[in-house]
Amino acid sequence: MANLLQQIKDRAKAANKTIVLCEGEDERVVRAAAQVTKEGIAKIVLIGNEAECKKVVPDVDLTGITVVDPETSEKTAEYAKILYELRKSKGMTEEEALVQAKDRTMFGALMLKAGDVDGYVSGACHSTANTLRPGLQVIKTAPGTKLVSSCFLMIAPDGGNEFAPDGALVFGDCALSICPTAEELSDIAVSSAQTAKAIAGIEPRVAMLSFSTKGSGNDKKFYDTVTKVQEATALAKAKAPDMAIDGEFQFDAAIVPKVAAIKAKDSNVAGKANVFIFPDINAGNIGYKLVERLGGFMAVGPICQGFAKPLNDLSRGCCDADIVATVAITALQAAAQAE
Ligand SMILES: CC(C)(COP(=O)(O)OP(=O)(O)OC[C@H]1O[C@@H](n2cnc3c(N)ncnc32)[C@H](O)[C@@H]1OP(=O)(O)O)[C@@H](O)C(=O)NCCC(=O)NCCS
Repeated sequence: MANLLQQIKDRAKAANKTIVLCEGEDERVVRAAAQVTKEGIAKIVLIGNEAECKKVVPDVDLTGITVVDPETSEKTAEYAKILYELRKSKGMTEEEALVQAKDRTMFGALMLKAGDVDGYVSGACHSTANTLRPGLQVIKTAPGTKLVSSCFLMIAPDGGNEFAPDGALVFGDCALSICPTAEELSDIAVSSAQTAKAIAGIEPRVAMLSFSTKGSGNDKKFYDTVTKVQEATALAKAKAPDMAIDGEFQFDAAIVPKVAAIKAKDSNVAGKANVFIFPDINAGNIGYKLVERLGGFMAVGPICQGFAKPLNDLSRGCCDADIVATVAITALQAAAQAE
């Protein structure tokens, strides 16, 4: 299990990216910033001020970390101007832009927008909505996608098993998109496949999940439920014709070769899928927690995807190691986008 995470950190080191951590007031963030810097996983910009960081972690060594305070930074006025230009059509005034640019999460998103850092990590002490809204407002989506979504990297126990020969599976979207339309579901599929490749080095085979396999649930009563996944499958295939994407599948048809041979024998994905797209957040959130708790997989994420530049949200229950891993993942996303 640790092996894949170590590989991710090693690849992040080689990418040599700069990541902003927005919450210099949080002990776990300050400790993680010091660890990332010491291990050379990324260069860190920490938003806060030195006195505050020393107060929360008195023994911290801030050598090599750039600490920036939006209240005193010479960049704040420049970032406020960027924000004003982006949001004036929404009614934002220059005064409001200056106030908002001093907000630490917004300041971090504006740093990313300005190209002063390569990626953004926040959320140790802010809600998901407050962490991602600045990114949604100023970074926006990447070309080719209209949706910011998320996925979990599910790392298999003992380095892998018959269902996860690569050592990990990818599940999307279990945390962000509440009830995606067919169009949105197709974006989640393509983005999750890209994340699987960029972060875990997995060659993606994407299964669009349902309670139905290849039309088995095509009863009029369930029509909308099944057709949404069928439409999303067709749209995803059209958006990424070179990618192995298929559906709709029940989970067993997607992952068990013997079941696939009975239910979907002509598919290039059935029985060997490694990226699983759930039809909505209820199914996805329950699904990843079942695999985590009953299957002993380690759930890494949610990893945000679809942004024009990488932003990631931490859980408020995170520990130092989760923050370090998220910084490494964000650095790899930045490297993949730069390719
Ligand atoms: C993603 C989420 C944070 C967005 O928050 P929100 O309050 O809907 O954001 P807003 O409505 O203020 O939208 C801000 C902007 O982002 C855009 N936006 C919102 N969600 C988006 C998405 N998924 N993809 C792309 N753009 C999006 C909006 O269109 C809006 O753009 P505009 O201001 O330029 O017009 C929200 O959907 C959410 O809270 N999801 C559930 C997250 C959660 O709690 N998960 C459980 C924890 S694991």
